[in-house]
Amino acid sequence: MALDRRCLGGFWSENQWHQELQDPQQRLCLGSVLAGSGELVGVCSGWMIVDELQLMLVLVDPRCRQGGLATALVSELLSQARTRGCQQATLEVAATNAPALALYRKLGFTTSGKRRRYYCNGDDALLQWRDLTNF
Ligand SMILES: CC(C)(COP(=O)(O)OP(=O)(O)OC[C@H]1O[C@@H](n2cnc3c(N)ncnc32)[C@H](O)[C@@H]1OP(=O)(O)O)[C@@H](O)C(=O)NCCC(=O)NCCS
Repeated sequence: MALDRRCLGGFWSENQWHQELQDPQQRLCLGSVLAGSGELVGVCSGWMIVDELQLMLVLVDPRCRQGGLATALVSELLSQARTRGCQQATLEVAATNAPALALYRKLGFTTSGKRRRYYCNGDDALLQWRDLTNF
């Protein structure tokens, strides 16, 4: 939750985080810790719904960004979802979030639609899609 607060101002409540970690049949959540201290510095999570992975969030501690951590976490999440039978991955990202858009582009996502003024601050959401059958 501390990492969530630092990166996204508290995307999920404590209760939502508990739920996220208690349903391994349908939810995947991966973390990355610093060697030595064990401090959690990266998290990504997704929901598996039928044959689709819905990527819910990716967070990397500001001190550890631009070193490939998010790429490694999301790649592993997609790989595990593929192993469990998911055929596609989807997500929504704010049109103004250039680092996240670049990350998803690098990982093979393409923009499949737009939800206008989807976020509280008025930002549009861009829907991202990736085929997992070739992952
Ligand atoms: C988006 C985020 C997860 C990226 O984490 P990261 O560990 O820095 O990402 P990586 O180092 O794996 O970078 C992957 C690619 O993203 C792009 N990227 C990352 N940070 C960038 C930045 N500040 N500006 C532009 N592109 C950036 C680059 O294309 C990079 O590929 P390259 O290294 O080959 O050039 C991180 O910035 C973050 O936690 N942001 C706040 C939370 C957030 O917005 N999450 C996404 C929505 S839930």
